[in-house]
Amino acid sequence: MKKDEIILAQKEFIFPAVFHYYKEPLVIDHAKNQFVCDIDGKQYLDFFGGIVTVSVGHCNEEVNAKVRRQMDKLQHVSTCFANEPQVALAKKLASITPQKKLTKSFFTNSGTEANETAILTARCFTGNSEVIALRHSYHGRSALAMSLTAHSSWKLGGVTNPGIVHAVNAYCYRCPFGLTYPSCDVKCAQDMEETIRTTTSGKIAAFIAEPIQGVGGFITPPKEYFKITTDIVRKYGGLFISDEVQTAWGRTGGKWFGIEHWGVEPDMITSAKGLGNGAPVGLTIARPEVADSLKGLTISTFGGNPVTMTQAKAVLDFIDENDLKTNSAVVGEYMRDKFLELQKKYPLIGEVRGMGLLQALELVRDPKTKEPATKEIAALMERTRENGILVGKGGLYGNVLRISPPMNISKSDVDEFIQRLDKSLSEI
Ligand SMILES: Cc1ncc(COP(=O)(O)O)c(C=O)c1O
Repeated sequence: MKKDEIILAQKEFIFPAVFHYYKEPLVIDHAKNQFVCDIDGKQYLDFFGGIVTVSVGHCNEEVNAKVRRQMDKLQHVSTCFANEPQVALAKKLASITPQKKLTKSFFTNSGTEANETAILTARCFTGNSEVIALRHSYHGRSALAMSLTAHSSWKLGGVTNPGIVHAVNAYCYRCPFGLTYPSCDVKCAQDMEETIRTTTSGKIAAFIAEPIQGVGGFITPPKEYFKITTDIVRKYGGLFISDEVQTAWGRTGGKWFGIEHWGVEPDMITSAKGLGNGAPVGLTIARPEVADSLKGLTISTFGGNPVTMTQAKAVLDFIDENDLKTNSAVVGEYMRDKFLELQKKYPLIGEVRGMGLLQALELVRDPKTKEPATKEIAALMERTRENGILVGKGGLYGNVLRISPPMNISKSDVDEFIQRLDKSLSEI
């Protein structure tokens, strides 16, 4: 098909709610490592990684070779039968969770399903049903996951599941209490107790939160936030679910999981995205006694599929063998310094935040009023496309540039990216 035919067919045959960046949809034809090519043959340096998903590069040679072999050996049996790729991945995962305490996995096909499974399991384990999520969070697109999500723009159909309340998040750049860290005494975290006592029955099933809020615009809490909130949550009977759909697999630098930076142990971790490097894999991993509480029949037809399990295991092995956790830390730090230099040049950049290779720039019209630069970011997205770089957009006000390249990039890729981003910023 030609480009125009693809765009026309997209309009005619795909739900219009499927959302695109750019005025004219960008039609991607092929990709390799950190590069993506459109149908006209134009090459882009991909610093968004298919929404924080391409963790080890597009069409990774080593990963794909293993997948091809598995495709020809066994493609599908369903969770009704055991298969080696599924248990090999589960065994590997059990060896890398914090303190090796989360050891039992349930595999599905997406982050949404991973979170559905975690909430269901927490409800079975505790016998309670109420759940605390955070404002500015994103947890997926099912009715339950949209109810957990706290962005009006991502809550469609007017669905709200009962029993879910939203505590304040630690958004220091726009503090919900108008305070400044550290003199604030992390009031947003202390407020968890008030939230539980005033908006729930006092007996909760779980607290679900992203260690760094992804769709929210890589909102990074102060180091004390999770210790304070999870202590309170446990006092009221709740489990802590760390939604690591964006923050896992070394992306935040130096650690497998984002939550490890905050010094607390989750009862369950959910993930997807970067685990599969593009394969549909959803993971819910739990303490054994928590996993054991989910009794009765449950099935995921494609969960634990031998091909996607092979891909996920190959991704983890690649991250290990190439020490990409360290690369994320080192190259991420290098990238952050470059962003801070850009911030000095462009007052449009209100805040630089994130960790490792998960970094964001919040754009504002005026650094004092912090008015979201929504029009400017739209223009900037068009310029970045023109200048051959792919970046993401997010935040409640749609004014945050999200940067999450594959974790096996080098400093020279960052130099190239910064030069093109600088050019794009100078053109708006
Ligand atoms: C933190 C978080 N949780 C859950 C999800 C849902 O994942 P999926 O789109 O695979 O259903 C996302 C997707 O962006 C996410 O960022």
